[in-house]
Amino acid sequence: MVVLNQKVLEEINRIKSKYHDSRSCLLPALYIFQREYGWLSPEALEAVGEILNIPKATVKGVSTFYAMFSHKPTGRHLIQLCTNVACMLMGGERLLDVLREQYGLEPNITTPDNRFSLVIMECIGACDTAPAMLVDTDFHGNLTGEKVIDILEKYK
Ligand code: FES
Repeated sequence: MVVLNQKVLEEINRIKSKYHDSRSCLLPALYIFQREYGWLSPEALEAVGEILNIPKATVKGVSTFYAMFSHKPTGRHLIQLCTNVACMLMGGERLLDVLREQYGLEPNITTPDNRFSLVIMECIGACDTAPAMLVDTDFHGNLTGEKVIDILEKYK
């Protein structure tokens, strides 16, 4: 059972009030839930559907379409590493090796200390700064292995 906090409800209702059709705020609502709870549990999806009056199947279909939404608990920090073409050509796969060697990370795995989870992204829309990653909602581009380690040391 998701315990909705007042801040989440107010934020979603504020967005909802700007649109004629509540389906228009489904993605922002899912984003708010993931930001607040770290992932989208079945109960969270149900709550979003109830708040926006959208069928559960629609909420689930939309949330599972986008790779940025997590449907299982993640560590304290979610690393989203792009290894698509531009990032791969600029060394993105080497960064994956660095994450393996330095933190024991693998795609879709959380470190035993619950510090990091890793997902591989198809493209995060920042090909001009490849290779790139997100850590939580922070963007990092023009990465090298050393930069990745320096950056991640700031996330405890
Ligand atoms: S291919 Fe990596 S950001 Fe586009």
